[in-house]
Amino acid sequence: MIVLGIETSCDETAASVIDSERHILSNIVLSQLEEHKAFGGVVPEIAARAHLDHLDHVIEAAMQDSGLTFKDLDGIAATCGPGLIGGVMVGMMAGKAIAAAHDLPFVAVNHLEAHALTPRLSDNVPFPYLLLLISGGHTQILVAEDVGEYRLWGTTIDDALGECFDKSAKLMGLPYPGGPHLEKAAKTCLDPQAAQDRFSLPRPLYRKPDCDFSFSGLKTAVRRQVEQLPEGLLQKSDIAALACAFENTVTDILTDRCKNAIDRFLKEYGKKTNSPALVVSGGVAANQAIRAGLKNLTKQHNMSFIAPPIELCSDNGAMVAWAGIELLQKNMTDTLDVAAKPRWPLDRISKN
Ligand code: KG4
Ligand code: ZN
Repeated sequence: MIVLGIETSCDETAASVIDSERHILSNIVLSQLEEHKAFGGVVPEIAARAHLDHLDHVIEAAMQDSGLTFKDLDGIAATCGPGLIGGVMVGMMAGKAIAAAHDLPFVAVNHLEAHALTPRLSDNVPFPYLLLLISGGHTQILVAEDVGEYRLWGTTIDDALGECFDKSAKLMGLPYPGGPHLEKAAKTCLDPQAAQDRFSLPRPLYRKPDCDFSFSGLKTAVRRQVEQLPEGLLQKSDIAALACAFENTVTDILTDRCKNAIDRFLKEYGKKTNSPALVVSGGVAANQAIRAGLKNLTKQHNMSFIAPPIELCSDNGAMVAWAGIELLQKNMTDTLDVAAKPRWPLDRISKN
């Protein structure tokens, strides 16, 4: 089975062709970094227009790279939510048009489900698995029981983790997009322990029961710390130390929340799987310090730790095409009148 996947829910215009044997035949991702840089964040109207300008060429390049034509495909999958509605509509309408023109089934993909299923594309992880989804818009702990079957165990009560990275990076004077730049700055810190001692940052909900998150207090504390730095141009070494302390604090919070989730997962699902796994997905899962912290945690609980390759963590078309394949294999296709959804929770993945 071969599927074209289209992703336009945020600031990446992406298309990819993959097959059910997990071969990525093409994977084109066009980032709109330049378009949004001047504004320090994604501007929805600009994003929608940029998708409109570029999507045709991105799809054309994905088809060309795959060496296939539309006639060779078994279906078209497009992200239909959640996300910035203007962009979602551009990708969804393009997908529907190709499906109609070539008489192919259309699959409306939930962007969060595409992130959630990525480890099955990269590592063929069996259900059920514990999933930490950390992206620009979402921070959730879920159990993936099957395609279309998710149990939400924890979510953020305020900011998403990616948003916290991006806003904190901006406060530190780092360029957009903040997450990767903050990680780069943290790597230049010469003494992580001294950095941690110097900048004491809060760990909201730390050691509390359950698996929820809170990050707005952390962002506010970063603002306070930046304001207390010596006046004038921010020193690179100060920013490196603050970024490092921030990254370590976030890793501590995530491992604390995931520890509760692992205890519960092993209790409730331990007998249903021979190979319990914690899977991390979403753009923030590219972060090496977070990966290392979570890997260490899983080792202590005899669980495997699965993180997709970095290029499959941030938004891309391959994850949408793969979700399309999994849904198509279960005959979970959609009619061409399916609507775009700005909100579409993963634990109530009803198609209505
Ligand atoms: O999944 P994604 O590409 O888009 C959404 O669905 O939101 O995630 C984007 C988020 C951004 O907040 C970005 O700063 C963050 O992922 N991110 C990172 C890193 N790479 C991307 N955060 C921390 N460290 C990174 N290396
Ligand atoms: Zn995403």
